[in-house]
Amino acid sequence: MSDKSSSNAMWGGRFASGPDAIMEAINASIDFDKRMARQDIEASRAHAAMLAKQGIITDSDAKAIREGLLTVLSEIENGTFKFSKALEDIHMNVESRLKEIIGEPAGRLHTGRSRNDQVANDFKMWVRDQLDAAIGGIDALTAALLDQAEAGADMVMPGFTHLQVAQPVTWGHHMLAYVEMFARDKSRMQDARKRMNECVLGAAALAGTSFPLDRDMTAEALGFDRPSANSLDSVSDRDFALEFLSAASICATHLSRFAEELVIWSTVQFKFVTLSDRFSTGSSIMPQKKNPDAAELIRAKVARINGSLVGLLTVMKGLPLAYSKDMQEDKEQVFDAADSLMLALAAMAGMVADMTPNKPELEIAAATGFSTATDLADWLVRALNMPFRDAHHVTGTLVKMAEDGNCDLPDLTLAQMQSVCPEITEAVFDVLGVHNSVNSRTSYGGTAPANVRAQIKRWREELG
Ligand code: ARG
Repeated sequence: MSDKSSSNAMWGGRFASGPDAIMEAINASIDFDKRMARQDIEASRAHAAMLAKQGIITDSDAKAIREGLLTVLSEIENGTFKFSKALEDIHMNVESRLKEIIGEPAGRLHTGRSRNDQVANDFKMWVRDQLDAAIGGIDALTAALLDQAEAGADMVMPGFTHLQVAQPVTWGHHMLAYVEMFARDKSRMQDARKRMNECVLGAAALAGTSFPLDRDMTAEALGFDRPSANSLDSVSDRDFALEFLSAASICATHLSRFAEELVIWSTVQFKFVTLSDRFSTGSSIMPQKKNPDAAELIRAKVARINGSLVGLLTVMKGLPLAYSKDMQEDKEQVFDAADSLMLALAAMAGMVADMTPNKPELEIAAATGFSTATDLADWLVRALNMPFRDAHHVTGTLVKMAEDGNCDLPDLTLAQMQSVCPEITEAVFDVLGVHNSVNSRTSYGGTAPANVRAQIKRWREELG
């Protein structure tokens, strides 16, 4: 690879020899950036049309370029395209093949353009597509969560803090908690999409160009809101990728938390939920096993996504303006994070749609662990006008009494209760039931079934 004849066709003019094999290995990005082929070709077609409209190239050259690029795209899509490492990246692979197909006009495509604005623009378009896909994935998961919430709007289960029984909640309310989280993820993605939606093409290498480009035309053709305003920033900006990775990391964190709950809930010790066979695996040695592998893998995928975010932040820190080749290390991290997120969202949506909450177990669990102790304290406040701090103390004493007697709060006799607080009446037993407890939590945002139904309605309207 050291004779002049193999020096690069794109910049061979000032080179006496081609690159060392190691140089080629470290330099080439084609193995991964070929994933941006469609965006690259779409952007080049828009650029060519704009060049012709501005009289920078002829209409017939633009036509040849635009048609030739479609041929290249179909070769890539049907798998006949021969990618070359020597041609380094997707941009040069496409242009070189275009030259083979249409000849001389191919060399005019790169007028007023650099790979620096080209790559930033392609990558932005790729990330934009991923944001749209992730938003679709979140919508599908949300729909599954809403169905679960509706079916279990008044199904009771224990609510936990510190993973210790706290107060009864409804299954529907628990599902809706995740709907809230994923809705925030979606809005973060929509927000990022809006901010990134500026077309980079025309920034050229770093300083803009002397050709009379119509950047608005290119921006519009590619679905951008406007062209980016500063050429230096344009070619060196990877905020759009970082924002995608940030939003993806937070979303994956939510997925991971939910996955952890499903892992716990599906154990024989909890038996809160039965996961479908379709999202479980068996053991090669223990015939009784049904493992929640999908949930475990979703729980773990966040590691790759967070890793990608930290990786790209670290690539970008300290980079001087404008483009540096370091930035080629942006893509694999984003590709991997995007793949992981999409898979995790789809697996979670499938698991949620298929899972069955075990109503009897949930109801029994909801009533254990003195879960209605707060209801008792609240009753003392309401019925006996006791200050809450005193009510808390009285209730604590009754809990201790029940614990010592190895029974639950509703199992205490009225006489036992009156031995702690003589004013307590029979009416107290009404508030010790778990259904009564959840029905009473009607404050806005509370777990009452009526609230759950109202929230489901709101979400269904919002999602259309
Ligand atoms: N493959 C490069 C990347 O992914 C394209 C841009 C190269 N630009 C340059 N001036 N060498 O970043």
